[in-house]
Amino acid sequence: MKTDIYQGTAYNEPVPLAVLLYSADETLPDVITGLVEAEDITGESETQLLLYTRNTLSARRLLLIGLGERQQITPELLRQVGAHAVRKAQALKLPSLHLQLPTFEHLPLAQVAQALAEGFELGQYRYLDQKSELSAAETHTVATSTLVIAPTTSATENDAITAAVRRGQIIAQGSNLARNLQNTPGNQMVPARLAAVAQELATETRLTVTVFEQADLEERGFGGLLAVGKGSAQEPRFIIIEHGEATADRPTICLVGKGITFDTGGISIKPADKMDLMKMDMGGAAAVLGAMQTIAALELPLHVVGLISSAENMPGPNAYKPGDVIQTLSGKTVEVLNTDAEGRIVLADALFFAQQYQPQAIIDLATLTGGIVVALGPHAIGLMGNNQELVERVLAAGEASGERAWQLPLWDAYRKMIKSEVADIRNTGGGRQASSITAAAFLDAFVGDYPWAHLDIAGTAWSDGKHTAYTSDGATGVGVRLLAYLLLYWAETL
Ligand code: BES
Ligand code: ZN
Ligand code: ZN
Repeated sequence: MKTDIYQGTAYNEPVPLAVLLYSADETLPDVITGLVEAEDITGESETQLLLYTRNTLSARRLLLIGLGERQQITPELLRQVGAHAVRKAQALKLPSLHLQLPTFEHLPLAQVAQALAEGFELGQYRYLDQKSELSAAETHTVATSTLVIAPTTSATENDAITAAVRRGQIIAQGSNLARNLQNTPGNQMVPARLAAVAQELATETRLTVTVFEQADLEERGFGGLLAVGKGSAQEPRFIIIEHGEATADRPTICLVGKGITFDTGGISIKPADKMDLMKMDMGGAAAVLGAMQTIAALELPLHVVGLISSAENMPGPNAYKPGDVIQTLSGKTVEVLNTDAEGRIVLADALFFAQQYQPQAIIDLATLTGGIVVALGPHAIGLMGNNQELVERVLAAGEASGERAWQLPLWDAYRKMIKSEVADIRNTGGGRQASSITAAAFLDAFVGDYPWAHLDIAGTAWSDGKHTAYTSDGATGVGVRLLAYLLLYWAETL
């Protein structure tokens, strides 16, 4: 979908659909109030009213979307409103929509424009790759979304809005890439395919990609990743994606993703019910790839290294077993209590590998624990780390991007829970207590003293399609927006 900008008044143009956003405490122009019953105009947040204008206005249709109280309006609401607008145009099979850019005292115009552009792009997303025949509704796409800006907008404001729209689109395209990867079924999205996607990305952008295959992993001693991959006929892969290079004025940031392309639980096998959802267990890897695409397109003046540990967790004849002790890349030994706690084991190698870059920050994303689904549901990423300054940065980026995170404690008391009698560390706390935190405590053992933040996205990576206007059934691409906002701000404030 194309998003462009036009100066004018949307409902005075001969367009198929003009969209007007209005708050509860705002009076609409007479030409519009004349078309509706006053009591239908509540302005309640996310309410929609579709009017057929019958030549009373130049626009053929007018969609009114309520924003609630003016002071309460957030970029996140605007993202959702953008999605509502594009979905309405989609449902009506219209080629385009024209949305009047609203102005608010408490939000810069560019921020409003960026949120709406993100909403358009996220809202039009559908995953149809597996269908051999598409219905007319499915083949229809809204080709253009236009933000209509006041004729009085200055040239400088115009430029800022244009840049913001482009930024919003690029970010949402990164999210949509992540969603595509995550939605791809496990039989297709195997570790080698994930690596091929990364390599394709390198041919389309200035990113450089290196892939370690089975033999490379053996030679280098990726004992964690290899152990998890052993039960599968699919070979594991370690993927390195690099943007820019380390210079004195460019900080290095490592983004680490869990890329379990399917998680059966291995020998500690999961129950059958909803096991199909475990194709989403590469959500962290998908977020890293989506973020790398975004960072490259935005040409951020940072050195960003994406690291993905990818394997399929299966109970095949060579599978690793409960009670096994394995040696990770770091040299540390791990007692495996439960083969279903595999994410932390593949991440251990990636986090240790990250240390060689001497990064200013290591940020990992992983669909790591069922515990975080229970604790925070679909509305917040679980956040833990060893450096409060970095944690605060992530919290702020979560707030700004609409991918909110919530911090859990990572005290020494939790580290004690994963002490092993026979090895250096064990891979679970033994029971269900604080399982998201003991998982983070395990990761912490592999990052050294580098500032590190861990994002547990198990609850936020998959959606029933109901919790926000722009999510559809399935993958959310969570993490891409948070990372994009984090790194954009990082680059701006160097
Ligand atoms: N991939 C799962 C976590 C998960 C659960 C992701 C639900 C998305 C939705 C992870 O590998 C796992 O199985 N974790 C176990 C660890 C336990 C055995 C210590 C969990 O959290 O139950
Ligand atoms: Zn698991
Ligand atoms: Zn898993």
